[in-house]
Amino acid sequence: MTKKRIISMVLGVTMAIGLLTGCGAAGKQSESDTKETINKTENVKATQSTETNAADKIKNTESAQNTDTNADGKTLVVYYSAQGHTVKFADAIAEELGADTFELVPVDEYTSEDLDWTKKNSRVTKEHDDVSLRNIALKTTKVENWESYDTVYIGYPIWWGIAAWPVDDFVKNNDFTGKTVIPFATSTSSGIGESGEILKGYAGTGNWLEGKRFQQDENVASARKWAASIGK
Ligand SMILES: Cc1cc2nc3c(=O)[nH]c(=O)nc-3n(C[C@H](O)[C@H](O)[C@H](O)COP(=O)(O)O)c2cc1C
Repeated sequence: MTKKRIISMVLGVTMAIGLLTGCGAAGKQSESDTKETINKTENVKATQSTETNAADKIKNTESAQNTDTNADGKTLVVYYSAQGHTVKFADAIAEELGADTFELVPVDEYTSEDLDWTKKNSRVTKEHDDVSLRNIALKTTKVENWESYDTVYIGYPIWWGIAAWPVDDFVKNNDFTGKTVIPFATSTSSGIGESGEILKGYAGTGNWLEGKRFQQDENVASARKWAASIGK
């Protein structure tokens, strides 16, 4: 074997080893590239799944809210009427809006003597003078399909400048979350005053709008007009 031939054989073997080694490195490189790609893909998948979960949660919340606030936009007119005036306005509003009505009836209903506020010893005067006597139980505070209403009108007579207290039991025992609440009152001369604000405080939930007072003998057409202007 010539010297030249020996050198060329050594070079050939070295190159072959080099190539093999190179391939090994390339193999390792591509393996780690693949791992990185998988990792990245998994990260993307994880991100996507987090996003999907978040989207699902939003959808769930939305559907829960839709159930709460009622997609149909149903309206309920709740009222208390001791002497027959408020009921006329409640009926007119309900008719105008195609709404349902719900009358509040005390377990112990007021007689005309009870309502004689000119007498010192009448039931209503005693209740007025002693706040602890104003917890008037109603026959029921539970409205069927309560969750299906997203707007609730609440009507009452004004007693000594505030809402007649039989309404309190209803307001305290219902959840108005997600509902629009619209008070209205009848009286001989007083305005609605802070009656709506006070009821809103008792309820603790709901989006309470500014209310409206009607003179007890005025034409109910004005209540229809008012309700129509609110439109729900
Ligand atoms: C106990 C009592 C207190 C009243 N207090 C007031 C009052 O402070 N201001 C007012 O303008 N009218 C007052 N009124 C009159 C009523 O608000 C009015 O007659 C009302 O329209 C009655 O509604 P109803 O018939 O639906 O019960 C009072 C009536 C009663 C029985």
